[in-house]
Amino acid sequence: MKGTHVTQCCINPSILSADFVNLEAELHRISNADAVHVDVMDNHFVPNLTIGLPVVQRIQAVSPVPLDAHLMIADADRWAPGFADAGLASVTFHAEASIAPIKLARELRARGSKAGMALRPGTPVEPYLDMLAELDMLLIMTVEPGFGGQAFLDLTLPKIRRARAAIDGSGIGVAIQVDGGITEETINRAAEAGANVFVAGSAVYGAEDPAAAIEQLRKAGSQTLRAGSPE
Ligand code: DX5
Ligand code: ZN
Repeated sequence: MKGTHVTQCCINPSILSADFVNLEAELHRISNADAVHVDVMDNHFVPNLTIGLPVVQRIQAVSPVPLDAHLMIADADRWAPGFADAGLASVTFHAEASIAPIKLARELRARGSKAGMALRPGTPVEPYLDMLAELDMLLIMTVEPGFGGQAFLDLTLPKIRRARAAIDGSGIGVAIQVDGGITEETINRAAEAGANVFVAGSAVYGAEDPAAAIEQLRKAGSQTLRAGSPE
């Protein structure tokens, strides 16, 4: 149905900017978050290497908030289902790294996780519009994946708008997540374009009080989402 407006604003801090030697304590600093965004990088799909499944499983065991895994790994069809088997709330693979994204999304859901699919800034959303109902979340990267602390790419805003129009037009409940360069300033532009789940690494963990930074981002994002809503 047309005119569906999303007002729920989620803030998912990325632990890429956390202190990796004190992860458990770092997780408790963001206990007011909606989920914790866990960036898995394999040094093939992106030129950086982070953590693998064993560490993610330990994070899952101690985290006060659900896990939102962002797999920046090659051969997602082979490796992503294992993350769903670990009991993660949400597993996001990259469209560019999957041969059979529909099959993979179904496998993730069958294993009990929400299915997310990510697009690099240069990947168009149009080829994937017919499969949106297979997803719980579409991640539109707002920087080239691989590193925290990069500047938000405004050129992704039209893609976010087109994805939001397609989702609202078909009445399916897919969240739009944005990841990269989200700050108190850029969150408004992303929310106005139609995003409703916001990943923030440096803006949260770079702040003196990460929990307060989450609240500030939530306030800014919610205000913009409400402003775009009919009532
Ligand atoms: C980048 C990662 C992001 C990163 C965001 O490839 O996917 O999740 O941590 O960091 P900021 O918010 O600093 O841009
Ligand atoms: Zn990420």
